[in-house]
Amino acid sequence: MLKEKIKKELENFKDENRFRKLTILNQDFLNLSSNDYMGFGNNALLIEEFYKKYPNLALSSSSSRLISGSYSLVMKLEELAENIYKKPVLFFNSGFDCNCCVIETFCDEKTLVISDKLNHASIHDGILHSKATLLRYKHLDLSHLKILLKKNKDKFENIFVISETIYSMDGDCVHLEELISLKKEFNFSLVIDEAHSFGVYSYGMAHSKNLIEHIDFLTIPLGKGGGSTGSYLICNQLYKDYIINKGRKFIYTTALPPINIAWNIFILEKMELFKDKRQYLIELQELAHSLIKKYNMNTLSTTHIISIIIGDNERLDKITNYLKEKKYFVYGVKEPTVPKGTSRIRIGLSPSLSKDNIIDFFQELNYALNTFF
Ligand SMILES: Cc1ncc(COP(=O)(O)O)c(C=O)c1O
Repeated sequence: MLKEKIKKELENFKDENRFRKLTILNQDFLNLSSNDYMGFGNNALLIEEFYKKYPNLALSSSSSRLISGSYSLVMKLEELAENIYKKPVLFFNSGFDCNCCVIETFCDEKTLVISDKLNHASIHDGILHSKATLLRYKHLDLSHLKILLKKNKDKFENIFVISETIYSMDGDCVHLEELISLKKEFNFSLVIDEAHSFGVYSYGMAHSKNLIEHIDFLTIPLGKGGGSTGSYLICNQLYKDYIINKGRKFIYTTALPPINIAWNIFILEKMELFKDKRQYLIELQELAHSLIKKYNMNTLSTTHIISIIIGDNERLDKITNYLKEKKYFVYGVKEPTVPKGTSRIRIGLSPSLSKDNIIDFFQELNYALNTFF
């Protein structure tokens, strides 16, 4: 029964052109789908410098944080981050665990969570595990959030509002200051995810706008602009202590190995020195957006993440296959990652791309959009 049911579901995915497969990236291709927005993860000079500084690090921590997994490098990383963010910091193994853990540890059946409709799966899973009541506001629509807050402000013991800074699937951006002024009016707990703004905004958007103190739980996954792995959680000491005592995704997992932790220290210590990379990324972004305008393409993006909505899965496949023939690797995003009928080409800019790369790519994309229907 189980096998039959699963087989049928996978057949449906194939019929709808959304059956997912694992592939190896062909190294001859220009990768426009990377989330390594600052190019740290693949920077040969940085990697060489890192291995010179840390030549003999262990490849396993062999323990969870509460046993022997809080070794000196982890504690140094948290201390370094605390000096930057001026608040307690707890390091998690991944952004998924960090988001999920915050929500499932602090929200319960007496909590209302109001979440942006397009928040990441880790946020959604945390809400499901928490048994809280969930309401979703229209994507980035803070006036809709305000209506929901007004209606529900006296009905629950606690209210949590959750948003990302830059959204991965559209490349659009929250108005953090406006969200914080709503927090002052309605007194909810605010959770912000900086997965797609860390690095691009140096220590993050909240830090660069001097807003850290207003955010109750700031999560900073490092797998994208951080060029690494793991996640910082920035919160007050009471919440940090509570997670250390109660957070299942913090307690019951093996800590990351010293090599990853040392790389995070290395990047964090250098972050302010990457001004030229950030400036160049802005130039690439401006160039890409001017080409989008020139070619009349359809995007909601205002940032380094650019999605061009195609809509139909079959047409998307034709376009990405054509781009592959031209040696561009671009990932076509389909449901359930994005809503049905909004499949898209998503690219992530990074300083490892040249301006000519961007000009040539958009020329090919424009050709494909006008050729394949
Ligand atoms: C917005 C957002 N939050 C959290 C995560 C999860 O982070 P990680 O890959 O570190 O588990 C991702 C990445 O997939 C993400 O895009």
